[in-house]
Formats: sequence, C-alpha cells, structure tokens
Amino acid sequence: MIRTASYPSLEARVCFITGGGSGIGASIVEHLCAQRARVAFVDIDRSASEALVKTIAERGHPAPTFVPCDLRDIPALQSAIAEVRTRLGSIRVLVNNAAHDERHTIERVTPEYWDDRFAVNLRHQFFAAQAVAPGMAAGGGGSIINFGSTSWLVGQGGMPAYLSAKAAVAGLTRALARDLGPMNIRVNSIVPGWIMTERQIKLWLTPEGEQELLRRQCLKRKLLPEDVARVVLFFASDDSAACTSQSYIVDGGWV
Ligand SMILES: NC(=O)c1ccc[n+]([C@@H]2O[C@H](COP(=O)([O-])OP(=O)(O)OC[C@H]3O[C@@H](n4cnc5c(N)ncnc54)[C@H](O)[C@@H]3O)[C@@H](O)[C@H]2O)c1
Repeated sequence: MIRTASYPSLEARVCFITGGGSGIGASIVEHLCAQRARVAFVDIDRSASEALVKTIAERGHPAPTFVPCDLRDIPALQSAIAEVRTRLGSIRVLVNNAAHDERHTIERVTPEYWDDRFAVNLRHQFFAAQAVAPGMAAGGGGSIINFGSTSWLVGQGGMPAYLSAKAAVAGLTRALARDLGPMNIRVNSIVPGWIMTERQIKLWLTPEGEQELLRRQCLKRKLLPEDVARVVLFFASDDSAACTSQSYIVDGGWV
C-alpha cells in the first residue's frame, strides 16, 4: 500500500481545477479534497462531474463545488471564476488541466478547427491565470499549474494542433512565471507521459501499445491518474515555495 503525504498548507486553501470531472482532473479534485482544501472545478461534462461530487461527499471528504463551463467560452470561464470567488473565497491554487487530444490529419485541419483546438488546449490556461492573479496577489501569492504533455517532445504525430498547443504551454508557463513572480505567484507545468485514464484505455490502449510502453518506460508499469495528482499536490502546496518557471515530467522515464 502506498502511504502518501499530507500537506497542511493545503487545508482550507481555495483551489480551482479545470476539466475536473474525469480523467487526471478528477483524481486531482479527489486528492485536493482529501487534503481538506476548498475545491472548485469546471467541466463541460455535467453527469461525470455531478457523479464525482457525490462520490467525494459519500467518502466524508469536503465536497467540491462544480460549475458547468465550456472553457472555449472565455466570458463563461471568467464568470465561473468570479462565482467561485464569491462562494469559497479568493483562489490560491489554479490547476489548468483541461484539454482534448482529438486526433486529426493535416489535410482535415481548417482555420476554424485549428482555432477550436487552441481554444480547448491552450487559450483558457492564459485567461484563467489572468482572472485569478489579482486575488492571488492580494492574498500574498499563489500557485498556478499548467498541464503540458510529453507527446510533442517524443515526436508523436497524428494531431498537429494539439501538439502545437501543448508545446506552447511550456512558453506560457515561463512567461507567466516571470511576470507574476514579483507577486509571489508561482507558475509551473506538469508534463504527463502516457497516463491510463478511462478515455486512454478505451480509445488508445492496444496490446502493441502496452508492449511499447513497457519497453520504453524505465518503470515497467502503467501510470495512473493518481501518479500525476500526487505531483500536483506538491506544486500546489507551500512545500514547493521556491519552485517556479519549471516543467516537471511525470512519464515513468520514457526514452
Ligand atoms: N492521459 C494522458 O495520457 C495524458 C498525456 C499527456 C498529457 N495529458 C494532459 O493531462 C491533462 C488531463 O488529461 P486527461 O487524459 O485526464 O484528459 P481527459 O480527456 O480524460 O479529461 C479531460 C477533462 O476535461 C474536460 N474538458 C474537455 N474539453 C472541455 C471544455 N471545452 N470545457 C470544459 N471541460 C472540458 C473533459 O470533459 C474531461 O473531464 C490534459 O491537459 C492532457 O493534455 C494527458
């Protein structure tokens, strides 16, 4: 049994997670609730999100606040953040987790599709940070965690708009870290390798893919959402108070 850390600095801290209804985001929501943080999340998937709130409440942990939102709609994201601020207080931790790795061929991409993929995979990360930064600054600081991906680093193909957006997360992280550092707002990115969410298992995990994973990862096991969520806890907490402008890879050592 894995015995995991407790982070006293996260207790009662207001944390906002995008795409928290399923996959890695749901595990982040669960882990932050288990730390007794005050957690709110947005997602486009109402039924998965409402089921998650119920499961967490049944466990006896403080239930998270769910606000439905399509993150491609920036005014809707801004009002979700304002609503959370009114209901829970100033946001001190932002986890920009939501994305969508829909496959697409070069020939199929139109200007509209390209913009839509950037809206799903990158644009909301900037506007969420913009919306929470003044409250974080007023509260003495905060932690912003952006989600990248190793897919563009390992030369994966089949979705050029997604890979381009994920590559840009590294630049966004460093740009925001520089500008927000004087307000004691830290900005890091977590860069997952292949993580076995329900969606990944259903859509992409094949016997051949599993063989490749076991060959290329130093660690000979499938990685799970909680492997990533536990790293998020560290970057969210005051235990990482001196870390900013970094991208931290969680991929089991994929080479
Ligand atoms: N799972 C992996 O192997 C893997 C690998 C590399 C990077 N990542 C990154 O980790 C993060 C989480 O990935 P995941 O695998 O859990 O993804 P997922 O697709 O399983 O879950 C994403 C969540 O975001 C929500 N979402 C999608 N579009 C939305 C929108 N327009 N508005 C609001 N919510 C929306 C979905 O409903 C879902 O709950 C992403 O940033 C992803 O790029 C994942």
